[in-house]
Amino acid sequence: MNIEVFNGNLCSQACDAIVLGLFKNANILYGNLASIDKATDNIISKYVIEKDKFEANYNETYILQTYDKIPASKIVIVGLGEKDDLTLAKLRELSAKTIKKINKELKSKTVYFDLSTFDSTHIDQKAQMITEGAIIGEYAFDKYISKKKFSKIENFFIAEKDEDKVETIKQGIEKGKVIANALNFTRDLANEPADLITPEKLAEIAKKAEGVKTKIYEKDDIQDMGMEAFYAVSKGSAKYPKFIHMKYVPQKPKKKIALIGKGITFDAGGMDIKSAANMLTMRDDMSGAACVISIMKALKHFSPNVEVHGIVAACENMVNGNSYKPGDILRAKNGKTIEVYNTDAEGRITLADALCYACELGVDEVIDIATLTGACMVAFGTQCSGILGNNDELVDRLIKTGEEQGEHFWKLPMFEEYFDNIKSDVADMKNTGGRSGGASVAGLFLKEFVTDNVAWAHLDIAGTAFLDKPQHEFIKGATGVGVRTLFNYILEQGK
Ligand code: BES
Ligand code: MG
Ligand code: ZN
Repeated sequence: MNIEVFNGNLCSQACDAIVLGLFKNANILYGNLASIDKATDNIISKYVIEKDKFEANYNETYILQTYDKIPASKIVIVGLGEKDDLTLAKLRELSAKTIKKINKELKSKTVYFDLSTFDSTHIDQKAQMITEGAIIGEYAFDKYISKKKFSKIENFFIAEKDEDKVETIKQGIEKGKVIANALNFTRDLANEPADLITPEKLAEIAKKAEGVKTKIYEKDDIQDMGMEAFYAVSKGSAKYPKFIHMKYVPQKPKKKIALIGKGITFDAGGMDIKSAANMLTMRDDMSGAACVISIMKALKHFSPNVEVHGIVAACENMVNGNSYKPGDILRAKNGKTIEVYNTDAEGRITLADALCYACELGVDEVIDIATLTGACMVAFGTQCSGILGNNDELVDRLIKTGEEQGEHFWKLPMFEEYFDNIKSDVADMKNTGGRSGGASVAGLFLKEFVTDNVAWAHLDIAGTAFLDKPQHEFIKGATGVGVRTLFNYILEQGK
């Protein structure tokens, strides 16, 4: 879909559909809404509003034929609800849902979306939200379906009457495109079968990314670096592990940040094998990695003044004659030992080595993002991710950025007592202490591999990375969670 700004008269524009926003209880029509109403013999004010009593509740739509009164074929009136309730996140969602409706019902190719009806403040952010919504809303993982269900828009214009605003709108559109495309790329990686998105494939994608330097550590390098923990998890798979390090270095960085993404390309559970139902969507266990790789790929569009490292310890957690076993004792890169209590708590073992590696880079902050615990999913559902760390300021800043971006994060406790659950008689710690307090216990485990002087935050996206039914602007499947929050966080830090 090509998205651009349009500065001109909508009444004379030939297209398949014009989308016009209307607030609830709007007493007078304004902007393009007013001119189109006039050009169509008051069809909107007289018939839609007066006779049909269209209330313009949020996400309510009314589709009109134009009967050649204007060159556009259809008019789609979209209810914006109460003016004060229309947040930026709601605008994004509305844009996504409107696109879905158009693709399903009208099958339009060229669409004009009228922004002037959304009043004139924060015009760049609004253009960004409409753009993000359009790209996120049009997403379908249908490449393997022979007969496609929905048509797609080819040309999408955000209309603005006022010439002075065009530049600002363009900037909003560009930012929206970068973020939403990164998000959809993340969704693609997580939706694709695990047979295709292997550790090797992730490494290949990372290697191809422009604007960053990528180093791939192979199986032998991983062992040589002392990553016995990460290596152990990979042993049961026919596919070799890859340790991926992507690096973005600007001239004079204001800050150095490392992003780590959990990269289990398939989590069968290992010897402590999962049930069929629990294994079904475990191709999504690399959603954190997908998020980090997508962000690294997108940095070149903004060149933020922050040094960013993207790190992924990629492997599969499978069962064969070489699999690591319950009772094994593993030594991580920082020398600490782990008693394997359950091979299905593999994410934290791979992250342990990745955290040690990141802390050795001399960065100010380390942020890891992982589909880590079923416990977090049970606690927060698909609506909210868990967050914890060793630095409240960092954690709070991420929560705030998340709220602004429509991604919820809720802080989990880090009481030292949680560590009691993973005390071991034979090693420095066990990798799990059962289900109780699972998300916090995992956090205390990870903390053992973070150097004290590094600010660290851990995002648990086990519940939010993959949906079993549509939610807000997303369809079933991968959501690309974390992209909006972490990408915007990096941009903010570079200001
Ligand atoms: N990848 C899973 C966590 C997960 C569960 C992600 C559901 C997405 C949806 C992780 O590796 C795992 O298996 N965790 C276990 C840990 C347990 C054995 C302590 C869990 O949460 O059940
Ligand atoms: Mg597991
Ligand atoms: Zn896992």
